[in-house]
Amino acid sequence: MDDQVALQQGLLTRVEGLRARVDRRLAELAPAPGTAPDRLVEAVRYSLLAPGKRFRPMLTLLAAEAFGANEGAALDAACAFEMIHAASLILDDLPAMDDAGLRRGLPTIHRAFDEATAILAGVGLLNQAYAVIAADKGLCGDLRAEVCARAAEAVGFMGLVAGQARDLLDRDQLRDMSEIDRLNHEKTGVLIIAAAQVGALIGGADAEAVGQVGEFARRVGLAFQIRDDLIDAEGSVEAAGKDTGKDAAMTTAVSRLGVPGARAAMEEHLAAAEAALAAAGGGGLLGAYAGRLFAARKAAA
Ligand code: IPE
Ligand code: IPE
Ligand code: MG
Ligand code: MG
Ligand code: MG
Repeated sequence: MDDQVALQQGLLTRVEGLRARVDRRLAELAPAPGTAPDRLVEAVRYSLLAPGKRFRPMLTLLAAEAFGANEGAALDAACAFEMIHAASLILDDLPAMDDAGLRRGLPTIHRAFDEATAILAGVGLLNQAYAVIAADKGLCGDLRAEVCARAAEAVGFMGLVAGQARDLLDRDQLRDMSEIDRLNHEKTGVLIIAAAQVGALIGGADAEAVGQVGEFARRVGLAFQIRDDLIDAEGSVEAAGKDTGKDAAMTTAVSRLGVPGARAAMEEHLAAAEAALAAAGGGGLLGAYAGRLFAARKAAA
């Protein structure tokens, strides 16, 4: 068997194994039936356990592995990032925000349940994510506090929440790619950076390597939102599992650069991400995993 094919198959098997582990742990960390009002528990489990890529927890786990963490050491922190991400999707889809009807192939939570339940599920998931990290006795005290702070800051006023506010306020007033990149960095990139850097920290990476992983993830985050905007512009609802064509009136990399230009910008970020990871010592499967996710979008017509 060709080395490249063997590497890809090894990667797929490994990634599928890790993803299944994340899914099993998420099912344990989600509120159990009977512990809170049934409707809320059902709604949280509906959103959190719906089939997603688990991209952020995979970054945490693979970064931890790359720097030598013991198997499982980063699992709860990884799941906390997925809980934060799931909360961000619930809020992003609300009528007051993107007013989306479909998410992960299912009706959005506020349509399947109701808006108040969706808001409470999102707020509950966010808070529970920090509780999961704080309760992770596998991490030493200082590291636990640092992971918690990094996760919380990624959501806060210099991260996701700021980006989502900018997305609502400035969506048709972004002047150039640097302003679009800033929005994409805040709303999407900062959480991706935190997820990857937390993995590196749990693996015991030194400050320089944590910085290089941060630069890798910063570029991956920028590429990730461009990929998402390409899917919105040219993907099918069936393949995306969510509404497409929502951004037609918004300023995005696609509206600014056109589809080929956006794809080129995405590839430029990915090349820079690869270089940053090489400087950090290669990153084990981390780079191959991230690269693979973008392959289909690069090849799209
Ligand atoms: C979608 O995130 C929202 C963005 C930040 C672009 P994902 O593409 O990771 O969604 P899931 O988790 O796979 O559903
Ligand atoms: C998402 O951006 C950013 C988040 C923080 C959730 P989008 O609004 O483009 O994400 P999708 O396309 O709804 O998943
Ligand atoms: Mg949005
Ligand atoms: Mg949206
Ligand atoms: Mg989108």
